[in-house]
Amino acid sequence: MTVGHRADADPGGSEAMLQSMEFSREGESILCYGQALRFASGIGFTGERLWQIATSVSELATNAIKYAGGGRITFRSVQDPRPGIEIVVLDRGTGIEHIEQACQDGFTRGRMLSEDEILAGTHGGFGGGLGAVRRLMDSVQMDNREGGGFRVVACKWLPEPGVF
Ligand SMILES: Nc1ncnc2c1ncn2[C@@H]1O[C@H](COP(=O)(O)OP(=O)(O)OP(=O)(O)O)[C@@H](O)[C@H]1O
Ligand SMILES: [Mg+2]
Repeated sequence: MTVGHRADADPGGSEAMLQSMEFSREGESILCYGQALRFASGIGFTGERLWQIATSVSELATNAIKYAGGGRITFRSVQDPRPGIEIVVLDRGTGIEHIEQACQDGFTRGRMLSEDEILAGTHGGFGGGLGAVRRLMDSVQMDNREGGGFRVVACKWLPEPGVF
């Protein structure tokens, strides 16, 4: 895994934090999880929002490794439309043909699992990752890039002062 740091001067004059890393190996999703915790806490996230961000990152990185051979994750602090974190995961695969279908809980590897199959837990995945990311983050956009690669842009906003 290679990690890069940069602090860009934003037009408002404050420093925007940026961190980007490539990942491809099984197990590197846990490193992405750790980086997400560090980056998000560094810009002021605490409590349950922290694990919501890190869990989303872990789900997206796991997918990129499992289905696309890896990719790049970029963390950025944003001010617009609200102060928060933006996470971009772009992988090296062929994308997802039916994105809405893939986001349904229980839909995995091209089909919907039956309740029995979910309970048996023998399918290596419950088809819950993408749906969970949508629930855990405040804004999620998914698209297939021209020339290949599935991209997710997910944001979480910092709470208003005094809100936890
Ligand atoms: N980056 C990706 N590239 C290609 N296909 C993907 C990608 N991410 C997800 N998919 C497809 O979408 C399906 C649903 O993904 P999701 O993360 O919701 O569930 P899962 O990975 O099958 O199971 P779980 O995440 O619960 O272990 C996957 O089974 C896979 O077919
Ligand atoms: Mg998954």
